[in-house]
Amino acid sequence: MNAAVRAVVRTALYYNIPIYAIHRGYEGMIAGEITPLEAGDVGNIMQRGGTVIKTARSVAFLSKEGRKMAYKNLEEYKIDALVAIGGNGTFTGAEIFHTEWGIRTIGIPGTIDNDLYGTDYTLGFDTAINTAVDAVDKIRDTADSHNRVFFVEVMGRHSGYIGLHTGIGSGAGAILLPEAEKSIDEIVEILKNSAKRKKLFNLIIVAEGNKNGGAQEIAKQVKDKINIDIKVAIIGHLQRGGSPTAMDRLLASRMGFAAVEGLLAGHYNVMAGIVNDEIVYTPFSEAIHKAKLPDPQLIKMAEILAM
Ligand code: F6P
Repeated sequence: MNAAVRAVVRTALYYNIPIYAIHRGYEGMIAGEITPLEAGDVGNIMQRGGTVIKTARSVAFLSKEGRKMAYKNLEEYKIDALVAIGGNGTFTGAEIFHTEWGIRTIGIPGTIDNDLYGTDYTLGFDTAINTAVDAVDKIRDTADSHNRVFFVEVMGRHSGYIGLHTGIGSGAGAILLPEAEKSIDEIVEILKNSAKRKKLFNLIIVAEGNKNGGAQEIAKQVKDKINIDIKVAIIGHLQRGGSPTAMDRLLASRMGFAAVEGLLAGHYNVMAGIVNDEIVYTPFSEAIHKAKLPDPQLIKMAEILAM
């Protein structure tokens, strides 16, 4: 996100547009936490995880009164357009805000889950899967040395992208995704088959959004059916932080640049994404409501390679 903030600020300044940071998202907009930015203010931030302008989930912005306060603060600073980094909630709020107060917003897809329609990749996804693969590589050493089965849970509340890409990248023995569930019996079968070919350790990636439960729950149910050494590891919020990968920095720079250029070209209520390596502006209504699911061919490939 910091690389996106840097790109937005520097592109705006290039076009002689005064630019402000609104701290803590819609919460800060309501509270009037708005500060002007210069080029130097966004130096030395792109290698940092998180966001230097902070973020918050805002309940107040869900109310008309809250949005009115936000508008009053923008008016004070003569702010007439916004660049918002976020996902469904952020873009839904921006659309309502435009209908009520006419503020034009362009969105940048920022979620590690990669589940936004209108872009091949979202900000943070590449960093998250690199962190997860690195963690699974380390877990693999214990799994291999001790002949253990590990269920490793990765993030992705409603989406299996992190699970699928981590599973492929770490050579997992099975991947459990909300989009491709496996029954407990199927998992037991996989473990029995790998034991038959003398593979006594295994790594199974579980996306947190799995409908059979998280890694703990699934591991418990498997253990009830087959007596083997099973461990669980939950990678959790490690995936949401740390220095972003070069790929994420590049993506963020391109999207930040495209957001400002898009606003200048008259686009608003759209998300600046990248599809097939080209900048695409997708209406918020589509980005919010259209589903983006992992490619079934990739899921099939992962199954075959995991054998
Ligand atoms: O929506 C992105 C996400 O990273 C999910 O994958 C995860 O479940 C969630 O955020 C965690 O959010 P929080 O830190 O607010 O619990």
